[in-house]
Amino acid sequence: MVRYSSKSLMSNKRQMSSSKSKSTPRPDRSRAITKSEKDSAPVLTFDIITIFPDFFSSPLEEGVVAKAIEAGLIRVNPVNLRDFTRDRHRTTDDRPYGGGAGMVMTPEPLARAITSLKEINPNSRVVLFSPRGEIFSHEIAKEFSRASHLIFICGRYEGVDERVVDSMVDQELSIGDYVLSGGEPAALVVIDAVSRLVPGVLGCGESASTDSFADGLLEHPHYTRPREFMGLTVPEVLLSGDHSRIARWRRQESLRLTLERRPDLLENAELDQEDLDFISSILNGRAEKR
Ligand code: ADE
Repeated sequence: MVRYSSKSLMSNKRQMSSSKSKSTPRPDRSRAITKSEKDSAPVLTFDIITIFPDFFSSPLEEGVVAKAIEAGLIRVNPVNLRDFTRDRHRTTDDRPYGGGAGMVMTPEPLARAITSLKEINPNSRVVLFSPRGEIFSHEIAKEFSRASHLIFICGRYEGVDERVVDSMVDQELSIGDYVLSGGEPAALVVIDAVSRLVPGVLGCGESASTDSFADGLLEHPHYTRPREFMGLTVPEVLLSGDHSRIARWRRQESLRLTLERRPDLLENAELDQEDLDFISSILNGRAEKR
């Protein structure tokens, strides 16, 4: 793989010799799953520990995730944390030791919920949603899509008693540098991003392999009919029927957008010499403007 850096733009053949071509075959997720594949397809189960199990009802009834559930490719199982409390008020939080604002999720109901889910699937990965976690990414989504069981804990209030984190959580995950009122929206985001990478979830014409981030770059622009809209036309190359020109244009627009908006991604993207030359031409002001 060629790694982009200001240095790599200047050098050439040496990197090419160790580079993995961008045409390296990738798993084909762009076709519908066959019946025999479906029968043997591994199901990915998301267990979600939450005090708001109904939060998940409507979002899971729509779109790609709903279809994946219907096809039996993923399972989403909201678990009501209050079912693991033992007091009359079904309490899940308490005041923090040491004082201060807000409440903390108590350890016992969480520990009972995790233990009971792990009794069914001992190898489940336990993920806690929290703004202090590792930032969720396409790489993590890919890793999760290969798992068979994930237990998501949706934190609320100021957070979760640290002893649960220390002893029972495998990974803390954040969906961005902002604070949500709970982990539930984060769980939905992750379920959506992971599900579309599970083999068979996306049918023909919905390939995840062309999504932004799939090859480490932002996706190129798209156009559809009409040919002219508010005086704006579709780039001529897309009407040309010349598939290799179209592929080159898309690659270059993808590189251009990534350079403009997320240059950090170029550090880890798979780039060949043609890509590097194109990036150089933009930086030198030689590339044609879109
Ligand atoms: N809980 C609160 N804020 C969060 C965030 N940014 N990501 C994940 N879980 C959260």
